[in-house]
Amino acid sequence: MHIVFAYIKFLLRSTNQHGVHSPFVYSLVTKCFYDRKKYPSYALLKEHRKSLLKDKKTIQITDFGAGSKVFKTDTRKVSKMAKNAGISPKRARLLNRLVRYLEVDRAVELGTSLGLGTAAIAAGNMVKITTIEGCPETAKIAGEKFKEFGFDNIQLKVGKFEEFLGEKRIQNSRFKIQDSKIASTDNRQPTTGNRQQAIHNSELLTQNFDLLFIDGHHQKEATLSYFEKLLPLIHNDSVMIFDDIHWSKGMEAAWEEIKANPKVTVSIDTFQWGLVFFRREQEKEHFVIRI
Ligand SMILES: C[S@@+](CC[C@H](N)C(=O)[O-])C[C@H]1O[C@@H](n2cnc3c(N)ncnc32)[C@H](O)[C@@H]1O
Repeated sequence: MHIVFAYIKFLLRSTNQHGVHSPFVYSLVTKCFYDRKKYPSYALLKEHRKSLLKDKKTIQITDFGAGSKVFKTDTRKVSKMAKNAGISPKRARLLNRLVRYLEVDRAVELGTSLGLGTAAIAAGNMVKITTIEGCPETAKIAGEKFKEFGFDNIQLKVGKFEEFLGEKRIQNSRFKIQDSKIASTDNRQPTTGNRQQAIHNSELLTQNFDLLFIDGHHQKEATLSYFEKLLPLIHNDSVMIFDDIHWSKGMEAAWEEIKANPKVTVSIDTFQWGLVFFRREQEKEHFVIRI
């Protein structure tokens, strides 16, 4: 029910390009959001999705997120997951265009699931993506499909987001992070193997990213913590995209806090996604745009 009211509120507040005075946002909306051209990459995305929709395998899900409003059990058919849980075809095409329009070289995605969003970032784009998924069986299917469709610009990592989200200073201070990482993921004393894996994982995200797609664990505290931990990985022209910002009251509260962060200048609420930019040359301004 929350989502229905949230959508009505969104419709009342949202606009199209008219009334957008920022040249940066106007251009983004008219040249990317509303770009109706058919790109060759769309055909690849369609085939990739079709292949998942045809996959009759059943897998055992490890649920790390806020749970599902669609699925009641942890045993799921890949075809049903592809139908209900991933990014929609329309959003996938938008994500694909955004990567091109913003000339994204390096992207990171939290929450691969079956890889529909990852494929949208990758298809036909000169980009390198790191994507992280906690559920091993889901990740296995995603990885197989990336291989089958020749997405060799995707690096898929399996593990909890928290294991990968260290702080940037880890480059200089291995030992500190090694301990703080372990403390935040597991209270038990880790074995040497686990310890080494934790160090390895926490060193994965140490470079800047142009696009950061946060699409897992749709709850307030988790979302805010990912935002804070990803902040050291942005630069002036990065964009962060948060999925499901109106999914619950908690997610809406998280979105408001993200918008209010002093590092955020432009924010765009498109209902499903919240996009934030950090361009210092831009005045702080919030937009609500119908896609
Ligand atoms: C909504 S799905 C991602 C959809 C995908 N990005 C797409 O565009 O199709 C969220 C995924 O995040 C994973 N996830 C949620 N919380 C996680 C966590 N803390 N660590 C690792 N994976 C997590 C879930 O297992 C799930 O597969």
